[in-house]
Amino acid sequence: MAQIIDGKAISQAVKDEIKARTAELSAKGISACLAVILVGEDPASQVYVKNKKKACEYCGIKSLSYELPADTTEEKLLELIEELNAREDVNGILVQLPLPAGIDEDRVLDAISPDKDVDGFHPVNVGKLSIGKKGFVSCTPAGVIQLLKRSGIEISGKECVVVGRSNIVGKPMSMLLLKENGTVTVCHSRTKNLKEVTKRADILVVAIGKPKFIDASYVREGAVVIDVGIHRQEDGKLCGDVDYASVEPIASAITPVPGGVGPMTIAMLMYNLLASVDA
Ligand code: GUN
Repeated sequence: MAQIIDGKAISQAVKDEIKARTAELSAKGISACLAVILVGEDPASQVYVKNKKKACEYCGIKSLSYELPADTTEEKLLELIEELNAREDVNGILVQLPLPAGIDEDRVLDAISPDKDVDGFHPVNVGKLSIGKKGFVSCTPAGVIQLLKRSGIEISGKECVVVGRSNIVGKPMSMLLLKENGTVTVCHSRTKNLKEVTKRADILVVAIGKPKFIDASYVREGAVVIDVGIHRQEDGKLCGDVDYASVEPIASAITPVPGGVGPMTIAMLMYNLLASVDA
């Protein structure tokens, strides 16, 4: 029987710590404010943005909401970012991705001041992470580290295998595990003998975007398995990149979907926002 890593409970603990700290800061007259920008009407993005604003409210963080039509021009969006960069009362700026076709995502993310880049997507923050300097770290991989640490799972000296090399998850995940003194391997779609590599893992982090792709045949007995994927199945239920029913019996610890990594992303966004105020 694997230890079930309870992302809901751990994210709640993180948010409660943030709430307590924002209350202390508020008593000293220091406030925290996140600007959230959503372009277009993508239903999944609308849900994410709603949840981010809800978490802000819970944590005592003010949120400013900019919901722009899908035909918003890149120039207009860049103008808004410039305005928010200049505002002293705004501590963090988040542009929900994906952006509508025709808007250059890189240009938009690069326009956000690195000091307000609470998503940790700006090249300056990505660079800082890779050389071990303090900066904003992408929320999902930062959340995975918190899940491991707060579940009492040692990373130092462990064989860590990350499946997926995205800029948002796989790459920063590998940097963070390395920072924690793990021995890190990154696998991707061109990896040969994927199973051979994943079976070496003491800690296996899966972020490939393919429902139930990793079954027990990819996992060493006793491994810790972290599932970053989230997919809606035909029956309406959610599942991850890991075939939970197959892997759970042989893992020593595993994150469920939902209720594993997912809730940590927003908690770490709140953490980053607080860090931008509480320097
Ligand atoms: N879209 C999917 N995940 C994310 C995220 O972590 N941040 C932003 N801004 N957009 C996303």
